[in-house]
Amino acid sequence: MKHKVLLINGPNLNLLGSREPEVYGFDTLEGVENRVKAILTPKGVEVLCHQSNQEGWMIDFIQDQADASYAIVNAGALTHTSIGLRDALTGVGLPFVEVHISNVHAREEFRQKSYLSDIAQGVIIGCGVMGYEFAAQLALHRLKLV
Ligand code: DQA
Repeated sequence: MKHKVLLINGPNLNLLGSREPEVYGFDTLEGVENRVKAILTPKGVEVLCHQSNQEGWMIDFIQDQADASYAIVNAGALTHTSIGLRDALTGVGLPFVEVHISNVHAREEFRQKSYLSDIAQGVIIGCGVMGYEFAAQLALHRLKLV
């Protein structure tokens, strides 16, 4: 069976590269997606990338892709607010790793709460966009492809 891995990015992550570069760096979302694909595709994994600024569209995408094997999720600000997104991930039983580019624990107090961390297989925080690559490596391990 060919594994499918979802790379899901939430609100404002389409602005990567120009958005607060002192916090999020200069890499673009397309660059991040390509880096993840470069790790997973050679192992025969199909990578489906989805970015949305709309909570409902993210939930619809997760429900539509319920047959995926794994997900890498940076839900952006929805991390701190969205029970709906949490319920979608648990609802379809999708194992995932949570990623944050910045160290949310060194920032405002409202970023300390995550509705996803306790249901994630792992959490990668504050490693810059390299966090996505670490997450892709983790996905390979969890899918027993390395
Ligand atoms: C973020 C951290 C969130 O608090 C913020 O709302 C984002 C990006 C990160 O990757 O560091 O949009 O998820």
